[in-house]
Amino acid sequence: MPQDKSLNLFFELHHDLPRQAPGDREFTQRAFQMCRDMPRKPKILDVGCGPGQQTLDLLEISDGNIIAVDNHQPYLDELMRRAQQAGVQDRVAPLKKDMHELEFDPETFDLIWAEGSIYILGFQKGLKTWKRFLKPGGYIAVTELTWLQPDTPAELLAFWNEAYPAMQDIDANVDEFHNQGYELKGHFVLPESAWWNNYYYPLQEKMPSFRKSYEDEAQAQEIISTEQREIDLYKMYADYYGYVFYVAQRIES
Ligand SMILES: C[S@@+](CC[C@H](N)C(=O)[O-])C[C@H]1O[C@@H](n2cnc3c(N)ncnc32)[C@H](O)[C@@H]1O
Repeated sequence: MPQDKSLNLFFELHHDLPRQAPGDREFTQRAFQMCRDMPRKPKILDVGCGPGQQTLDLLEISDGNIIAVDNHQPYLDELMRRAQQAGVQDRVAPLKKDMHELEFDPETFDLIWAEGSIYILGFQKGLKTWKRFLKPGGYIAVTELTWLQPDTPAELLAFWNEAYPAMQDIDANVDEFHNQGYELKGHFVLPESAWWNNYYYPLQEKMPSFRKSYEDEAQAQEIISTEQREIDLYKMYADYYGYVFYVAQRIES
């Protein structure tokens, strides 16, 4: 994500999108079903919730209560607008907070959820620092950008080495769960439809007017070029990388 002055432009481009990362209700549900013996009304932490599509899906699927954390207030406002519309606002508590500074009592949650956001803290650090907030036997479900094949094409590698150099393959991520005291319950790759329908198509629709509004603004043009490059690379190389949903259970204190 861009820093400083570019951030406002980035948020403007991303405002009003259904989601801020690839995903779909079907896959939120599939991951939730891997969490066996969940209490009837689980206590859930959704980290980096964005405008909250997966938060709302989880509320409906789980019958639980959710603390939804993000550091961007407009996303939390949008989440609560959607929650109000769905009549589930009493079961979600928005929390504006930097995920680097989360403070909860130990063993508070039955489930920690993070779609497209654990990378912000770092995959290993997220697994490590969030574990103490999970009850023993509690679950964590995250999506993480993951290499799916070796022999990555050079132009793809160059782009992601810049954008997310910490990206690992599935085996390395699975090892992180074991190293941090979790038992992996399953993982699956989000299909291309989850990228296009809920994320890239809506984002691309906003690009022409954004490009026009900021035609003299170099930073805006750079943001849009980088995003278009990301989309073009995904179109060409979707077999080589993707978002993987990982679901694991806390087994050690
Ligand atoms: C890629 S988006 C994913 C959002 C949402 N989970 C989804 O799938 O639509 C990452 C989210 O993390 C939030 N974020 C970025 N840095 C953060 C931080 N340091 N603390 C809390 N949230 C952060 C962003 O505002 C954004 O909503």
